[in-house]
Order: sequence, then structure tokens, then C-alpha cells
Amino acid sequence: MRVLLTGGAGYIGAHTAVALIEAGHDVIIVDDLSGTSAEAVARIETITGAAVPLLVADVRDEAAVAGFVAEHAPVDAVIHLAGLKAVGESMAEPVRYYDVNLGTTIALLKVMDTAGIRSLVFSSSATVYGTPEQLPLTEESPTGIDLANPYGKTKRIIEEILSDAAAADPGLAVVSLRYFNPVGAHTSGLIGEDPNGIPNNLMPFVSRVAIGSLEQVAVFGDDYDTPDGTGLRDYIHVSDLAAGHVAALEHAASGYAVYNLGTGEPVSVLDLIAAFERASGRSIPQVIVARRPGDVAASYADPAKAQRELGWTADLSIDDACRDYWNWQTQNPDGYPRG
Ligand code: UD1
Repeated sequence: MRVLLTGGAGYIGAHTAVALIEAGHDVIIVDDLSGTSAEAVARIETITGAAVPLLVADVRDEAAVAGFVAEHAPVDAVIHLAGLKAVGESMAEPVRYYDVNLGTTIALLKVMDTAGIRSLVFSSSATVYGTPEQLPLTEESPTGIDLANPYGKTKRIIEEILSDAAAADPGLAVVSLRYFNPVGAHTSGLIGEDPNGIPNNLMPFVSRVAIGSLEQVAVFGDDYDTPDGTGLRDYIHVSDLAAGHVAALEHAASGYAVYNLGTGEPVSVLDLIAAFERASGRSIPQVIVARRPGDVAASYADPAKAQRELGWTADLSIDDACRDYWNWQTQNPDGYPRG
């Protein structure tokens, strides 16, 4: 298949591009490079030996994306990962989040319709569940419980739009993948996560502390109702996540489907820091502070549906993820070179 990857130069996109190419598919990428660098695409090419055409554009620019798709016809499927993803920023700039996340999706659906592309995989998030009523989370768990931030709402609204689009057009195959917490990096150390500014998420923050560019990790609360009092999450290696996209694409059937992509294993904040200390051989200063507003105590997947229907499971451990993240971090202490 030839696959258009929106946001293909980003953290999850670059790993997905490598996995697709290694599975025998062709990849073309559109990315506005607002959260990454063209160097990521050069490195996908280094890892795979394949040429990967890149269009630097905003996916809302329908004419540009349609032209790119026509130039590389036939394009068989789209994986849509372009979007804004910072929870805090989405509270400060809600309109921009709705504009970008919904606007890119709608523009893409129109381009797909015109070009006759019948298959779409969407990058959703476990954040759509909001505060879990029951754990582990299955695809049937209710969504939107106390979901207060615009970022999460955009993912939930997009899932509704995609479900409506698939219901109206029997030829369309649409899959939403609800990611749990992506961590790790490619084993080569050539591609990895390159957050803008000070990281919001736990592993990139811990890694910056290990390498010495940040002083200490603030652990957001140790009074949750969990075994060690800190938050439990389902950390999934980004290479496992990438493989989940390939499986979803290869199994996509007409209609609309949703899958959790997680390991099913709850890991606490303190567990993750300890695993990173082992992987890096560094001691990681940490301090307990107040809970972060909006955080849930625990969130982890029941990944059985993806195993049953896609034949996919997460194989890599939190130790693998820490080792690979640290390898990426030490090889690229300042992320990708920006030019
Ligand atoms: C966050 C987002 C979620 C998004 C996901 C992936 C929030 C509320 N949720 O999930 O919508 O899909 O990232 O980008 O932001 N922690 C610390 N200290 C830190 C950072 C985090 O103790 O400096 C703790 C958190 O309280 C949490 C765990 O580490 O228990 C994981 O946090 P994080 O990596 O930010 O992911 P989520 O909050 O699960």
C-alpha cells in the first residue's frame, strides 16, 4: 500500500513510517514541522533506506494536500497523526486546538473523498475516557467522564465525526486508535521524542533530569489510592505503538472501529523513575509535590480487542523503553538539529 502519513515527522509518526516501510509499504508525509524537524524524515530514510517524499504544509491547506496526493497517486490509505497535543496549552488556547485538530481532520476527509481514498487510521487517545469508572479500560468504557480539557475534547469530537462519516459511506474503512502513554524511542537512537521547550510528560522530563539539563523531577502527588500513592499509567513503547498502526491498516474493514493500544500493565511514577535510573545508571533527584490538576489516579488498558481482532500485542517492557529513550537522549542531547 502507499500510505499518506499526516504528522509523519513527529514522534509517533516517524516510528510509524519506519514500521510501515519495514512491512513493505510506501510512505509519503505531510507535516508542517511545527513540532519537529525535517531531519526526522532524513533519519527515517537512513533507517529504512527508502525515499520518503515530504510536503511541508498545514493539513488544513486542502489544495496543497490534494496536489501532493495526486502527484503520488495512487495513495491507498491515510494515517492521520497531525495535530496539537498539549493539555495545558489547550486550556489557554482552546480555539486554536479546535481549529487545528478538527480543521485538519475535515480537510483530510474532503481530500480523501475527492481522491477516492477509502481507508483512514486516526490517532486518538485514551484521554477520551476522561476519569475511568472501572479499570482496565475497554473500548466499551464510557468516554468523556469529567473530560475538562479542549485537547481531549477534540479527540472525542473527531471520533464522532469519523464514526458519522463511516456510517454514511459503506465503502469507507475508519479506525481510531486510543493510545495510552507513548514512551521510548527507535533502537537505533536516530529518531525519538523532541518536545518543544520544557517537557510536560513524565519520561521526557525524567530523561532531561538524568542528563542534567533539568534539576529534579516533581512527582505530582503521592496520596492517590494506588499501591505507592503515585499515579498509575500504561506506558507503551512507541515501536509497539507504531506496529499497532500497521496492524490496524492491514485489518481495516469497511465501517468504524476503535482499539485501545496499551500494554495492560499499570506502572507508577516511582516505578518509571526507578526503571530510568537503572537504564541510565544515573541517580534521578525527585521531590513529591501537589497533584497536578486534571490528573487521574490510574489509567490502563484492556488491550484484548486489538489482540483478538488485529493480532497485535505490545511486546516491549518499560525497561526497554527507558533504555531506548536514554540511547536517543544521549545521542541527541538537544533533539534534532534545527536549521
Ligand atoms: C498526558 C495528558 C493526556 C495525553 C498524554 C500523552 C494530562 C492531564 N494528560 O497524559 O491527555 O494524551 O499526556 O501526551 O496532561 N507526572 C509527574 N511529574 C511530571 C510529569 C508527570 O509526576 O513532571 C506524573 C503524572 O501525574 C502522571 C504520570 O506522571 O501520573 C504521567 O504523566 P504524563 O506523562 O504527563 O501523561 P498523562 O498525564 O497520563
